[in-house]
Amino acid sequence: MKPFRLAIFASGSGSNAEAIMKFFEHHAIIEVALIISNKENAGVIEKAKQFDVKSLLINKEAFYQSRAVLQILQSHGISHIVLAGFLLLVPDYLIKAYPDKIINIHPSLLPKFGGKGMYGMHVHRAVITAKENESGLTIHLVNEHFDDGEILLQVKCAIETNDSAETLAKKVLQLEHKHYPRVIADWVGHS
Ligand code: GRF
Repeated sequence: MKPFRLAIFASGSGSNAEAIMKFFEHHAIIEVALIISNKENAGVIEKAKQFDVKSLLINKEAFYQSRAVLQILQSHGISHIVLAGFLLLVPDYLIKAYPDKIINIHPSLLPKFGGKGMYGMHVHRAVITAKENESGLTIHLVNEHFDDGEILLQVKCAIETNDSAETLAKKVLQLEHKHYPRVIADWVGHS
């Protein structure tokens, strides 16, 4: 068992989770030990199987009303939590149990285009509608509010006149796959 064990929380296709599992597959001290999803048919579940990582489905009500998820994390020796396209607000009891040990990625330059309801294509459509000339990603620690914790890294990309929300989403996602795993490695290494 490696000293640092990550749980990735994801609700969607899991392309970031995949990039992270790939990056840490042969890492000396960090491993992805668990994938947690609140969506039964999330692509991330299939990706976890490919990497032989255990995955668990959680129920929204139980997530907020019980501490079962915390017990699961503790019983798996999870040291850090990585949010990768996870759409539920992280409950207070998890933030208290993992202070500065929960990280998130957001596909815009926060504080712009962040907050409740700003996820996935909603973000990129809002950026294009606002006629911004740049967008990018933000990697930050997680506190009680959506998209609000200490920023660890922002990476920008230019928006060309012919960019649509879809082409922008692709550009930003590529940057996410490139940067998120190594930022996680640095953060875990310094914590
Ligand atoms: C990413 O754009 C991430 O920034 C956001 O949700 C999306 C997840 O994509 N939080 P994927 O499931 O990793 O493909």
